Amino acid sequence: MTYLSEVQVPELPEKSEKLTSLLNVLHDEFLLSDETVDRIVADFHEEMRQGLAKHDSMGKKTGPLAMIPSYVTSRPNGKETGSYLALDLGGTNLRVCQITLNGDSTFSITQQKFTIPAEAKEATLFDWIAQSVELFLDEHNLATDDASNPIPCGFTFSFPIDQTGIAKGKLIMWNKGFAVPNAVDRDIVSLTQSAFSRRFLNVKIVAIINDTIGSLMASAYSHSNSQMGIIFGTGTNACYWEKTKNITKWTKEEIERFPEEMIINMEWGAFDNKLAVLPFTPYDNKLNRKSHNHGLQVFEKMISGMYLGEVIRNVLLWLVDRRVLFGGRSSEVLNEGYSLDTSYVSIAVADETPQLSEIKNLIEGTLNIPDTTLTDRIVFKYACNLVGARAKRLSGAAMCAVLLWRPELLEKDVTVGIDGSMFQFYPGFADSLMEEAKRILGPERASRVKLILAKDGSGFGAAIVAMTASKKL
Ligand code: BGC
Repeated sequence: MTYLSEVQVPELPEKSEKLTSLLNVLHDEFLLSDETVDRIVADFHEEMRQGLAKHDSMGKKTGPLAMIPSYVTSRPNGKETGSYLALDLGGTNLRVCQITLNGDSTFSITQQKFTIPAEAKEATLFDWIAQSVELFLDEHNLATDDASNPIPCGFTFSFPIDQTGIAKGKLIMWNKGFAVPNAVDRDIVSLTQSAFSRRFLNVKIVAIINDTIGSLMASAYSHSNSQMGIIFGTGTNACYWEKTKNITKWTKEEIERFPEEMIINMEWGAFDNKLAVLPFTPYDNKLNRKSHNHGLQVFEKMISGMYLGEVIRNVLLWLVDRRVLFGGRSSEVLNEGYSLDTSYVSIAVADETPQLSEIKNLIEGTLNIPDTTLTDRIVFKYACNLVGARAKRLSGAAMCAVLLWRPELLEKDVTVGIDGSMFQFYPGFADSLMEEAKRILGPERASRVKLILAKDGSGFGAAIVAMTASKKL
């Protein structure tokens, strides 16, 4: 399905001029024209340029992209060996893994997933991580007590840190609803390592990486032409290989200390925080105002899984308040912030049954709004499509902007490693990225771009970086 057909105002079984005209208003507010998308690509380049030239832009309502040097400079080749512990802290889960790299492009993995409880997101995070690691080590008989030989650990951390070394970085800010006090501006490795010490865990963090870097590393393990890693999940972000000499915020001496290329963590969720080009609607503004990080991560708020359902909920309530949806009635569930999970949105946009019965179950069963009409369900699906199609299109624009940044790379085949629930589960996500690539890059260059699912790449990528880092220790 093309972007324009997805956002076209639907025919309704019960004719209502008022409803149709309101749907047209929504259509115009959410529509992304080719011109806007092209401007977004141009502004991305401008922010990338400024971010490479300037320190400390993250966490500012007006700054360019943070473009954080990762200190990761080696590409994996599949010959890596050794056993590493890997922690992957995402927005929703912590995965603890023991990964053994066999040296012949194969590896084995033992892993356990822990859902991050609300109190950890707001207060006890580091002790909770240590407790989970202890549980994992005990359960899998991996604990050791030889203090001179701690278990090397790679830590994938999916929040922005101002990295000053491969195992050093201060938290710039929390996002995705996290709000642990006394962590901003402090070294995340030390905070985690101290929590390990409180539990006498014989584990040493040798590398900390962003989750996008995990995806890029995991993708590179099997596709040596991998140039970019992206997360389209609870949050969103990307990283790519940059020429070290282009990191102009570094001194000449700093640049010369490193090899020719280094991965840059872009922190693209903060693109256009100043809202110069993104067509932010009143429904986005409503979400933004009530969020923990008002005015920040505005691009992320338009495209990532944590926020998509909430923008749609705001649209639905706007229609309810105008008495053109659900007979003007809401429910306690729908009135509750963030009650429309993005997984429901994926179900709704995929519903092709004649009576939209999946959507009926969802609205009547889960959202507790009885007796929906077919018109209600068509409108519900339309709201999901409008917001979802915008997210997909913006995601494609961002990906293409980065690929175009180094156009020489597009002369050969290029692989992009992508992970995250939006990419994996949102209907038509990968197709839409490719549709955008054809338009922005042109069909020939787009045909050289391969998108792969770097599934659970974060943990695996952390193990690879941990291996490289421990060799250098
Ligand atoms: C964070 C990034 C992370 C992304 C995807 C964003 O909210 O700022 O560091 O890579 O989410 O998890």
